[in-house]
Amino acid sequence: MKNMTYDNGLTMPPIGFGTADLKGPADELVYCAIEAGHRLIDTAAAYGSEAAVGDALQKALDRGLVRREELFVQTKLAPVKHGYREALDGFEEALNKLHLDYLDAFYLHWPVLRGQEETYREGNLAAWQAMTELRQKGRIRYLGVCNFLERHLLYLTESGLPWPAVNQLEIHPAFQQRGLVRFCRERGVAIQAWSPMGRGVLRTAEFEEMAARYGKTIGQLALRWSIQNGFVPLSRSSDPAHIAGNLNVFDFEIGPEDMQRLNSLNTNTEHQDIWSYKRQQMY
Ligand SMILES: NC(=O)c1ccc[n+]([C@@H]2O[C@H](COP(=O)([O-])OP(=O)(O)OC[C@H]3O[C@@H](n4cnc5c(N)ncnc54)[C@H](OP(=O)(O)O)[C@@H]3O)[C@@H](O)[C@H]2O)c1
Repeated sequence: MKNMTYDNGLTMPPIGFGTADLKGPADELVYCAIEAGHRLIDTAAAYGSEAAVGDALQKALDRGLVRREELFVQTKLAPVKHGYREALDGFEEALNKLHLDYLDAFYLHWPVLRGQEETYREGNLAAWQAMTELRQKGRIRYLGVCNFLERHLLYLTESGLPWPAVNQLEIHPAFQQRGLVRFCRERGVAIQAWSPMGRGVLRTAEFEEMAARYGKTIGQLALRWSIQNGFVPLSRSSDPAHIAGNLNVFDFEIGPEDMQRLNSLNTNTEHQDIWSYKRQQMY
């Protein structure tokens, strides 16, 4: 599995393992993911999974299963209150839980926090300043944001602060966010895709048949669609067979007609219960 390399110098594994809402002992599932070959591990203060990820990483490193520099570990600032001090403290807390001395990437989780609709800009700018300084000190390799729309990216960077290396967005065949993706790419921002399975959109006889033609499952078809679109998908699974199978997506290529059919599923249907791009667009 070769890393993806981008114009902005970012290099990261082409697929990631997500740890939000794992069913079962999270440390064992993360260890299972590393054992299966996953090298990008995505966690967040909001998922409550950082400590479990930390335990799994420590075990994997202690046992010599993997070397630290082979891993890409990323987490996100708690989306409670963004600010300079909050970012510095959140970073140290995350490192402690993860048992690490540097992060591969650190993210702002959401642009507009609930209840902070009027002040979110100052909070984000202060947090981004702190994260930039941590990066300059070598404690974070890359800075990222999640769910940032064009307007949020513009105000974050207009005073000279750096552009994020990555924007992590909900992306799957039913919600492709093509305009935002183009905007990011034109500015050298790489895209990670969360909820890459599309929460069931491919669960039909047509796509079962399409996947079977490639000798794959619809889950693998969804991940491959993401990769062929240049995204780094973050899949989450609590099933060891799925965890391993989700890496088995580099030995086939979806043909142009099938890609076209999958691309045509874009209905702009987002699926977040607490998160909503439509709401974020208002600020
Ligand atoms: N930045 C953000 O705001 C944000 C928001 C949401 C998520 N994320 C990140 O993205 C990760 C993934 O997102 P997600 O959990 O919503 O989406 P997902 O990976 O698209 O969906 C997870 C679901 O897909 C199933 N699944 C996984 N692999 C499968 C396979 N090969 N075949 C059939 N079913 C499969 C899982 O069930 P099984 O357990 O049975 O396999 C689980 O129910 C999260 O864990 C998190 O790290 C980020």
